[in-house]
Amino acid sequence: MGIKTILGIESSCDETAASVVEDGITILSSVVSSQVEIHHPYGGVVPELASRKHIEMIVPVVSEALESAGIDAKQVDAVAVTQGPGLVGALLVGFCFGKSFAYALDIPWVGVDHLEGHINSVFLESPSPEFPYIALLASGGHTNLYYVTSHTHIECLGQTFDDAAGEAFDKVAKMLGLGYPGGKVISDLASRGDPDKIKFPRSYLDKNEFNFSFSGLKSAVNRYIQTHADEYQSQAADIAAAFQASVVDVLTYKIIAAAREKKCQHVALVGGVAANQQLRDSITESAQKYGLKAFLPSLELCGDNAAMIAATGYYYLQDPSRPVGDLGMDVYSRAPNRKK
Ligand code: KG4
Ligand code: ZN
Repeated sequence: MGIKTILGIESSCDETAASVVEDGITILSSVVSSQVEIHHPYGGVVPELASRKHIEMIVPVVSEALESAGIDAKQVDAVAVTQGPGLVGALLVGFCFGKSFAYALDIPWVGVDHLEGHINSVFLESPSPEFPYIALLASGGHTNLYYVTSHTHIECLGQTFDDAAGEAFDKVAKMLGLGYPGGKVISDLASRGDPDKIKFPRSYLDKNEFNFSFSGLKSAVNRYIQTHADEYQSQAADIAAAFQASVVDVLTYKIIAAAREKKCQHVALVGGVAANQQLRDSITESAQKYGLKAFLPSLELCGDNAAMIAATGYYYLQDPSRPVGDLGMDVYSRAPNRKK
């Protein structure tokens, strides 16, 4: 196959990103322009503002990705662009740009599933897991467990019934008046707190199934704050630590249980929440205890980026069951009926 150099584009939420990846594994460049500052005052991502900023940034971000890879547009063999899930207006910016770029250069392109992008992010570094492996995707919008048998054959074993893990971090940060996004602030604060001073519930649901629920935990934190209105601010670090411990315990339990049930030796933690050090340590330790090996992407590959999209596009282009892009294709806000 003549496809070697892929331009990846990502614009599903609040990051405009572009990357050049060679042979699905070598990152020649990865540029991420974050909109965090723009959405910060609103306490969450404002879709209309996100779309506008993507429009402003898409050309400079793609230009920078090509430039720092040391190639010009004509050397790109194919384009891989996020098709969904995500904010429709935001997705459309990258998707239409990617389509047009490929059309102008008369090269193939593929629409890539953002979640499969995260799952494949572990192959951009070595060592990487061997198939089949269990992937836990924990981000702002999803908390899903997968049984992965190839780069493009991915079975969802379970998902959250309500809030995603990252969303719970964001909401607890908001309750404590710490702004948006909350993951990093809560984990920094938690490192100064005692996780055992306050006890929050752990929602395992059915221990033999791989679904999640974080809304009960979120309500418990809220109740604690309301019933300790005079003192909660001085206990913020302990609240953060106790909340984080609850999320970490449940996620660790489920990823290991899934690996044991499916008889996988390897587990991978991906998505924005994979940046959480406590969770990384807990999963690594627990995997060791059960004779398993945990794979954790470096921090740049945990959050949204386009290298994972380019790499996944490379695998789609080798799988005849994945459609090559045509101009009639559209974005999707929620995963189609592929059990995601
Ligand atoms: O994958 P991602 O960048 O975007 C989505 O596709 O959602 O994930 C963003 C989420 C946010 O909810 C953010 O609070 C969370 O990842 N996050 C963290 C940490 N860093 C980011 N959660 C816990 N601990 C962190 N250190
Ligand atoms: Zn993501």
